[in-house]
Amino acid sequence: MAASTNTPALDKPNPAEDWTVVLPRGGKPKRNFHKVIIRVGQKQEQLWTPSDTETNPERESRLMQKIQSCIKKLESSSFWLAFLNQLQTPEIFDWFQKRVGSEGKMQMVIYGIGSIESFEPPRLQLSLAILMKRLFSWIGEVEVFDPVISLAESRVLTALGCSVLTINEQGRRQALTPMMFFMPHCEAELYDNLLEANWCPDLLNNITLFGNSFEAYEQHLSVCKNLSLADSRKHILAVRKFVKELAIDSSSDDYFRAFHGSSWHFFKLDPHSDLCDARP
Ligand SMILES: C[S@@+](CC[C@H](N)C(=O)[O-])C[C@H]1O[C@@H](n2cnc3c(N)ncnc32)[C@H](O)[C@@H]1O
Repeated sequence: MAASTNTPALDKPNPAEDWTVVLPRGGKPKRNFHKVIIRVGQKQEQLWTPSDTETNPERESRLMQKIQSCIKKLESSSFWLAFLNQLQTPEIFDWFQKRVGSEGKMQMVIYGIGSIESFEPPRLQLSLAILMKRLFSWIGEVEVFDPVISLAESRVLTALGCSVLTINEQGRRQALTPMMFFMPHCEAELYDNLLEANWCPDLLNNITLFGNSFEAYEQHLSVCKNLSLADSRKHILAVRKFVKELAIDSSSDDYFRAFHGSSWHFFKLDPHSDLCDARP
């Protein structure tokens, strides 16, 4: 995997928009203080640094060993084999080939991975992303963000070839080129933010998303009929008819916690698809 040690540029999805820097009361920076940047007219995004800054070579090396053994375990599992078989069916393979198209690469953005040091499901999820990256040459740069990432985790992620973002985008990355969003078990609001930030056919068509099943969200809401919940998931619900969803098989005991309820989501919108009408 091509390691990228570059600090990613602060993404300004629309450079024409204004930014306001908000300083803490009193104006003095404190340790662990996170300077807030508000993109005018949208919800806030924040410059981010890890709050757990304690690290040392032993801690990082222990974590690296944990991840490497997790990758090995996953690679030799029937779960990985079934996952690959599904991705390599002609229909799905063609889908990715077409999406990658003239760009030649599809960037991967991993949101909400959780703590890879403390928990096995995030380690398995990261391992899956790393194995995909190793196998598929069309997967480009891998960027990772979760506000819980510690400095030690950040360093190990970087050593594994990922770039850790320095801004909390609140899931609002604009897919200006083909992008795979790998968001295992994120909160619904994060998927909704991503959709809202890409709410036009051209941008949505650039997205391939791995995450919680949108169909399950819809089914849940049709039963519980909670209006405020429906409002916070309105883009998920509205986009459903333009999404082909493919559930992954997570029935194997060792992988259930990490991947249950997860699906691939492939977006297929006509350039004239009327998303305004689709908005609930
Ligand atoms: C339900 S947990 C899932 C964690 C892990 N993927 C798992 O399955 O155990 C949701 C994760 O989303 C992260 N999260 C919350 N806000 C986020 C944001 N703005 N960007 C990226 N991740 C975020 C949380 O810190 C948390 O680790």
